[in-house]
Amino acid sequence: MFLWGTATAAYQIEGAADEDGRGPSVWDTFSREPGRTRDGHTGDVACDHYHRWPEDVALLSDLGVNAYRFSLAWPRIQPRGSGPANQKGLDFYDRLVDALLAAGITPVPTLFHWDLPQALEDGGGWLARDTAHRFAEYAALAAERLADRVRMWITLNEPFVHMAYGYAMGVHAPGRALLAGALPAAHHQLLGHGLAVGALRAAGAGQVLITNNCTPVWPASDAEEDRAAARAYDILHNRLFNDPVLLGEYPDLSAYGVGRWDVVRDGDLEVIAAPLDGIGINYYNPTRIAAPSSDGLPFEDAGIPGYPTTAFGWPIVPDGLRELLVRLKDRYGEALPPVYVTENGCSQEDVPGPDGVVDDRGRIAFLERHVEAMERARREGVDVRGYFVWSLLDNFEWAEGYHQRFGLVHVDFATQRRTPKASYAWFRDFLAAGGRSEH
Ligand code: FCB
Repeated sequence: MFLWGTATAAYQIEGAADEDGRGPSVWDTFSREPGRTRDGHTGDVACDHYHRWPEDVALLSDLGVNAYRFSLAWPRIQPRGSGPANQKGLDFYDRLVDALLAAGITPVPTLFHWDLPQALEDGGGWLARDTAHRFAEYAALAAERLADRVRMWITLNEPFVHMAYGYAMGVHAPGRALLAGALPAAHHQLLGHGLAVGALRAAGAGQVLITNNCTPVWPASDAEEDRAAARAYDILHNRLFNDPVLLGEYPDLSAYGVGRWDVVRDGDLEVIAAPLDGIGINYYNPTRIAAPSSDGLPFEDAGIPGYPTTAFGWPIVPDGLRELLVRLKDRYGEALPPVYVTENGCSQEDVPGPDGVVDDRGRIAFLERHVEAMERARREGVDVRGYFVWSLLDNFEWAEGYHQRFGLVHVDFATQRRTPKASYAWFRDFLAAGGRSEH
């Protein structure tokens, strides 16, 4: 069955930051520091999904999706990142899973969507190898409770973005700006992934995936310097996270000053390359890369002129999704497991009209054209088995706070009123017309 769904993440929607024994995460800490997020927004309340989840499950059910990707908040399940499970935290996801199953919706939880327990960050976070082992213990606790009903699991969400934004540039939690010093956060996340695959399988999980953020990389020109810079960027953004998982080896990191990588120990790559049942791919836009104009990184982002952009300023390039999927197939061949597009969507300045309607026709066009691009990739032989819209609800968009609206459903953050947008009706009709059964 082809999975058609929507995606969310715990810190972006749940709120209830201090309830039922939840511990602080790096995002609680970071978002409360002055100047870190736009207008100082935090996820303290977010969409109040922790209390309003029955309404949100009803929205999913009316939409007609057959799958829902969400994330488990590690600090709800292990408030300090180690030790026994907080049963109240698990109870929340237990109820959610049961309600989804009762509505005929396949639950697809992600174990880590960036909300590391603060206690683990205090011990070094993903720069510390120990965090990988803690992650596997947490995976086991979650699966022991839920794997009797949850078939499909995702370990990590976008380890590239977490490393780059959280540890290299410091624009996301935990706010560390270490540049190349952030690279160990890649290896330790991947090691955590591999260890978690084993823990999930031991607890009876059916299918296990990782979700990577991937981008087709375009050299700014045919000049060899630009092409070399594009290759270096492709290594950092795509191959650093796909190669070890799918091929059991790291790409050449010498452009980043890494020769023999001392954080990698014997046996780690075998753990990281544990067979998977699928790979999740999040696609938002291609990246155009030029040779660097100053010392430092081996590339420079050249921007993508000539395309329309989302409210976030991200270029809208639907065919980039086809290009990306076909490139993955070309690069990994038989080593590429079935692909699930686990996020795709756009932000818009959605304002309800006087009649209360949110006429987000730009989002409808965006989604239509990206689904078409995915279908072209399938016709070109890529085994794609799912597509999840980011996002069900407008939510806390990390450093942008509540300013970027990605939802099929509008949220008035003052009242928590949910209003399905025109794109929600479009997706519902698309699914009812066979979008969900034609595969
Ligand atoms: C992705 C994140 C997701 C959301 C979208 C817009 O990188 O995984 O949480 O913020 O971008």
